[in-house]
Amino acid sequence: MIKLGVLISGTGSNLIAIQEAIERGELDASIELVISSRPNAKGLTRAHEHGLKTMALSKELYDLGAQAADEIIASQMMEAGVDFIVMAGYMRKVTQPILQGFPNRVINIHPALLPSFQGAHAIEEAWLKGVKVAGVSIHFANEVYDQGPIIAQRAFDVPEGVTLEELESLIHEVEHKLYPEVLQKLAEDRVRIMPDNTVRILD
Ligand code: GAR
Repeated sequence: MIKLGVLISGTGSNLIAIQEAIERGELDASIELVISSRPNAKGLTRAHEHGLKTMALSKELYDLGAQAADEIIASQMMEAGVDFIVMAGYMRKVTQPILQGFPNRVINIHPALLPSFQGAHAIEEAWLKGVKVAGVSIHFANEVYDQGPIIAQRAFDVPEGVTLEELESLIHEVEHKLYPEVLQKLAEDRVRIMPDNTVRILD
C-alpha cells in the first residue's frame, strides 16, 4: 500500500479516476492529501465529495516564486506521510524543494506521446497538426519540464475528422485507465529507473 499526495490545478478528473480505482480495490494506495494551485479548481469540490483532505495555495504565494509554494507543498506532503507525489493536471513546474524532498517519487501525466507536444497545450497542438496517432505519457518529473524518465505510454489511432473536444475526451479516457495502472505498478514496487535514465518495469 502506497500513500499518495496529489497535485491538481483544474477539473481533477484524473484525481477522481485514481480515487475510484482505490475504492474499487484495483489500486493498493490511499490519497492522503490533495493540493491545488488554484483555490477555485473544480477538482477540489470533487475531492471533498470523495472525503479527501485538501489544501489550496493562492496565486499570491506563487507570485513570490515557485520555490516558496514548493516548500509549503513539500512540507505538507511530508507531514501527511506521503510516499509519492502525483501530478494530475497540475499546471506548474515542480522545483527543488519537492524534487529533493521526494527524489524519484514525483510522477506526472502528460496528454501526448512525449517527447512530442511538451508544454501546457499538448492536445490542441497535436490536433492542429492533424496527428494520426495520439496518446498519453506518464513519467517521473525532474527539473526539466515534461522530460523526466518515461514510465508508460499508451497510443491510439485518431479517428478521421475528429474534433478537438472529441480528441480531448479520447485522451482523458486513456488517462483515466493508465494512471491507476501505473500507480499500481509503483505500489507493487515494480518500477525501476536505470542508470541511463530509462525506466524498466519488472515482471
Ligand atoms: C490532463 O489531460 C493532463 O494530462 C493534463 O491536464 C489535464 C488535466 O485534467 N496535464 C498537462 O497538460 C500537464 N502538462 P484533469 O484536471 O481533469 O485531471
